[in-house]
Amino acid sequence: MRKAIYPGSFDPVTYGHIDIIERARRTFDHLIVSVAVNPHKTPLFTLAERMEMLQEVCCGMDNVTVDSFTGLLVRYAEQKDAQVIIRGLRAVSDFEYEFQMALMNRTIDPAIETVFMMTNSDYSFLSSSIVQEVARLGGPIQGLVTPTIERRLREKLNQ
Ligand code: PNS
Repeated sequence: MRKAIYPGSFDPVTYGHIDIIERARRTFDHLIVSVAVNPHKTPLFTLAERMEMLQEVCCGMDNVTVDSFTGLLVRYAEQKDAQVIIRGLRAVSDFEYEFQMALMNRTIDPAIETVFMMTNSDYSFLSSSIVQEVARLGGPIQGLVTPTIERRLREKLNQ
């Protein structure tokens, strides 16, 4: 069984992430979408909220599970028996960071392959942080995140 992990902060999940989830789940038998717990970052949404939002968007995707992890991604992939790490690429600007991460991960465990998937060009500008910023400044974010996540964002920013 070809099992892949799609790791990320998902703060919150956007249509760009959903596009990658759909592509990856068509390509692999099982996909684990996993929220990274990074003690050095202060996310807008809690881990439980980010996982809940992912569970909502992945509802009905029978070969997708939502999880979280702490520590090294590669060690987590080994524990889950996953052979592949999925990362989305939006533009050339993503490449340097992704390249460094993929090669570091390969140094730790050469058996785990990183597979890059190109996001739909409609979402090539999209990131969780840009959605957060536009929402914070009262701008329109429909079409960038699902309506439920849009509502959650507005509520969170009004707290
Ligand atoms: O959505 P993001 O914030 O771009 O995701 C980055 C993430 C979580 C994939 C990356 O920071 C990560 O893999 N963190 C786990 C810690 C780790 O394994 N670090 C070494 C990899 S270079």
